[in-house]
Formats: sequence, structure tokens, C-alpha cells
Amino acid sequence: MEQDHHARWEQHYADDNLPWDSSEPAPALVARLPGLELRAGARVVEVGAGTGTNALYLARQGLQVTALDLSPTAVARARARAEAEGLAVDARVADWLAELPVAAGSQAFLFDRGCFHVCDAAGRARFAEQAAAALEARGWWLSLVGNADEESVGGGPPRVSLAELAAAVEPWFEIESVIASRFQGEAEALAWAGLYRKRRPVRPTFSHGRSARSPGA
Ligand SMILES: C[S@@+](CC[C@H](N)C(=O)[O-])C[C@H]1O[C@@H](n2cnc3c(N)ncnc32)[C@H](O)[C@@H]1O
Repeated sequence: MEQDHHARWEQHYADDNLPWDSSEPAPALVARLPGLELRAGARVVEVGAGTGTNALYLARQGLQVTALDLSPTAVARARARAEAEGLAVDARVADWLAELPVAAGSQAFLFDRGCFHVCDAAGRARFAEQAAAALEARGWWLSLVGNADEESVGGGPPRVSLAELAAAVEPWFEIESVIASRFQGEAEALAWAGLYRKRRPVRPTFSHGRSARSPGA
């Protein structure tokens, strides 16, 4: 990823120019997490975790959290907040689109709020490929992204269409649900809350035709 992309995000945190930063956990995360029935202590990762509001929420639910972000200032804030609360959050600087920053197949759940949608088409495809690589078999990804069904007026988050979203995600994930909702903050911009489940490995194909020796149904 280009250096100016890193610098741009770091500058946002250095300037405290964080229109997306909400002090409350994302309602979609709070609503969907219990239904995933993650085991206690399961490993989860937040990509583009910013100052850590949602990562801390996940840690409070008894999960083993890795919080990743490009911005050293954001990561330092997330780490300080976790320490102040006595929560064990592994907050680290990492570029999700570069080398996989967690062990392959190690995560039960991946969360991103507003990170997938800052990528271009190639970046979104890479993001999804990395998510599938990080997740264990049948692992879950909850992704909150700007929704292109509403025009951007005077800024707000980047927005993707459902077709753009599916193009990146479907090769690796079953799309469990995509619900139109709203971000808190950022003028309550329209969002997609997408819940995806890692696909089963492809099995060897077999012929649907019956051989002479195959039994009837
Ligand atoms: C719109 S902000 C959202 C931050 C946080 N999720 C929240 O809701 O407050 C997007 C975040 O993604 C981070 N980011 C962008 N590209 C990234 C990448 N390739 N790898 C890791 N983090 C990235 C940025 O530094 C920024 O903190």
C-alpha cells in the first residue's frame, strides 16, 4: 500500500480529525455478536480499529482481541484505553492489505467498521481474500460500510454498491445477510451491515449422471 495512504490516516489521528470516531460500540456489532455463538476466549480481529472502541467492546465480551490499524497514533490510543480498563487487547500497527498480520486460520471472527470501504476495487478483493485467510473454518466477518444507495452530500464515508460489495466478498464468503442501516456519527450516513461466513473448501466435483452400476434413488 502506498506510503501517502498511511500518512493520510496518521494525519487524521494526529489532528484529532475523526468524524467517524464514535465513543459507543457499533449497534450492529452489539446486535449480531451474540447470535454468532463464539466460544469464550475465541480469537477475534478488528481491522482498521482506530482508537479501539469496538475492540474494547469485544474484549469485554471475553474474547481474545487483536486490533489492527495503519496509524501508530490510533494504535497507541487503543492500547492506552485497553490498559486503563485492564483489558488484554493486542493492538498493533499493520497494513491489512500487505502480509497477513495474524496466523492463518486463527480467528473465529473479523470485524471492520469503515475500513473495507476505504479500499478501491482491487483493495476490497484483497481485503476479503485476507479475511478468508485469517479466519478459521466457517469463521464470521461483520463489515460496516458506506452504502451507495444514498448520495454523498458534503463528505461522509466512502460508499459501495451491493454489487461492488458482493464482487469482493462472494468468492470467499457466503453472504449471510446484508442490511441497510446507519452509522452513528458522520451525519448518520447510510451503511450496509454485511455478515459473511467463510466458505467451505471446494470439494472434488463428481458427475451427476448415473453410471450403469449406480443404485437408483
Ligand atoms: C474510517 S476509519 C474507522 C476507524 C474505526 N473502525 C472506527 O469505526 O472508529 C478507517 C480506519 O482504517 C484504517 N485503515 C485504512 N486502511 C487500512 C489498512 N490497509 N490496514 C489497516 N488499517 C487501515 C485507518 O487508519 C482508519 O483508522
